[in-house]
Formats: sequence, structure tokens, C-alpha cells
Amino acid sequence: MTDSQTETSPEQQVEAARKAFEQEFERFARFTASDLEAAVSDERALADLRTRHLGKKSALAATKKLIGRVAADQRAAFGQLVQATEAALVQSLDQAEQSLKDYIQSERTARESIDVTLPGRRPRFGHRHPITLLRERLEDVFVALGYVIEDDREIETDFYNFAALNIPENHPARGWQDTFYTTDGFALRSQTSTVQIHAMQRRGVPVRMIAPGRVFRRDTPDPTHNPMFFQVEGLCVDRGITMAHLKGTVAEFLRRLFGPDTVTRFRPSYFPFTEPSAEFDFSCFKCKGRGCRICKNSGWIELGGSGMVHPNVLRAVGVDPQEYSGFAFGFGIDRMCALLYELDDIRLLFENDVRFLGQFE
Ligand code: DAH
Repeated sequence: MTDSQTETSPEQQVEAARKAFEQEFERFARFTASDLEAAVSDERALADLRTRHLGKKSALAATKKLIGRVAADQRAAFGQLVQATEAALVQSLDQAEQSLKDYIQSERTARESIDVTLPGRRPRFGHRHPITLLRERLEDVFVALGYVIEDDREIETDFYNFAALNIPENHPARGWQDTFYTTDGFALRSQTSTVQIHAMQRRGVPVRMIAPGRVFRRDTPDPTHNPMFFQVEGLCVDRGITMAHLKGTVAEFLRRLFGPDTVTRFRPSYFPFTEPSAEFDFSCFKCKGRGCRICKNSGWIELGGSGMVHPNVLRAVGVDPQEYSGFAFGFGIDRMCALLYELDDIRLLFENDVRFLGQFE
């Protein structure tokens, strides 16, 4: 021991250790916590304080080593002083620690508690796209008429999109159905008529099916055109199918969709995959044929193309046109959707603005 340390008495050393502790402990003694984060950091500071003032290397621990050196008659009293001081420190620390713990506990409970009387957050439900809604209505009508629903690929070979549909190379119909080609002979289908071929190959005949789906054309978008849109194809092939079946089916479908007094009209037309061919119109669902903005005052709404399946189409899938005949039809869903909801721009259907799309369910 150095001289300067021997000059202070053991009692003074205990007193110094106590004072040093109290100076640091002061702020915890008068502790009133006001926020959880401060309380948590105080808890750590308190643990640190305990180590420094009560640990093995603390000033108080050093005074214990003096007990043996104190004169025999004062030893007991000094020992008691050391013990009492240590007990006082421990008690102060324990009390402060306990009140911090209590505070932290109650604060955490308060934060985590749930007010069950608060109104809940409403989950945002999705909704179906207007095209999907209409497609489902169309599907329901045809399923009720005994048709199956076919779904097929959107990327096609020349065979399915053109050749098998009696549109040979250099046929002018390839021009108005110009689509998007890849370099290796594939194209995005320009019509759902492709599914006529797939369905007959898959199912054979007789067959009654509709095929709703996306089609693509090299069009510049404007209020009535989009390079991608939806069509529904219909095909019915069996023995003895006639034009009467075509007219009856289309008329019934339109009555079920637009009401029992809907009138259907067929106009002679041309399509490579049907012979004879006809376009069909129906009496305006809004003005009942009197003439309005929707039907552009004609009383009629043009819908799609149709006809008796061309013998070459049946031959392309190995069906004998002497034995089987059929009808087919096709129309666009987007245009019908725009008419039904009175949209003046079909591009709205693809801009994906949920404020617009959410209105239709
Ligand atoms: N595929 C034709 C088009 O995209 C529509 C069509 C016309 C389909 C006559 C048919 C049909 O099945 O018989 O314009």
C-alpha cells in the first residue's frame, strides 16, 4: 500500500465508497420515469452501477480486505460497518431496480393492449373486371344451352390461325387480321376461331363449344380499337346441322342475355371459314329498336360474324363434310361490354384504374 492510502482510515474508505455510490445513485433514488425508452436505458445504467460499486473490483470490496488488518478490538465494529454499508447499497439498488421493472412492465402492457371498441380496419375486397363479368354471363347462357367452354393458347402457328381455317397464304383475309409475328413462325392469334380447330382435334365430333379468349391485331389504340381484345367463338358440329340451328341458337342466346323481346337479324357476309356466311345484329337493348345514342339511331347493334362451317375446315381436322355439318359464330366481348356499360372509350377497360374498374360488380 502507498503512503497516501495508509493515511485514510478504513472507516473513511468505507465512507468514501458509500459517498461515491450515493452521488451516482442520486438520480435513481428520486426516480420518476416518464417514458419507456428512458426507463429501459436506466435499467441498464443501474446494472452497470451495481457492478461498479458492489462488484469484485469495487472500492467497497477493497474495504473488506482491510477487516483483517484492523486492530482486534475494533475489528467486529468495522466488519459490521462494511456489511451494513454493503446492505444499504444493495437495498437502494434493489428498490430502484424494482420500481423501474414495475414501470416498464405496466408501460408495455398499456402499449400492447387492444381497444376492442375501436372500429376495425375494413379489408379491401377485390372485384372482377367488367370483361370477366360479361364473359361469365355469356358462359352461363351457353352452358345452359349444352355447350362446353374451351380455353386455348394465345400464341399460334400459321396452321391454326389461318391455313386450317381456309385462309391460305396470300389470301386477302390475312391482311385485315394482321397480327404480331415472332421470327420463328409463331403469331399472337388474331381470332378465337383457332379454337374451332383445337376443339375438333381434341374432342372429335359431334361438338358444341364456346371459346372466350384474348386476341391480338395490329391496331393503333383509339376509343373503339385496341391491339388486344376479347372474343367469344362458338362451334356446333353434328349430323344434320343447318342454318336454322345457327339462327335459333344466336337468337336464343341474345334473348337470354338482353331480354325476351330481343330481335336478331342476319345479313349476308363473307368469312373464309364459313359458307354461307352472315353477320348478325340485335335490336338495341336500350331503346328497343326505336333509335338512340347507343345504336346510333339505327335501332340495331352489330355484334358478330357467323355461318355454316366451310367443308375445308372440317377436312382440315379429318371430319367428313358429307357426314357432318356445323355452324360457327364469333363476336367481340369488349365492344359488347362498352355498349352495356355505356363506355365511350374501350381503352378504359385496359388502363387498370381501380376507381373505374371497381364500379361494376
Ligand atoms: N373470326 C372472325 C373475326 O375475328 C369472327 C367470326 C366470323 C367467327 C364468322 C366465326 C364465324 O366463327 O363463323 O372477325
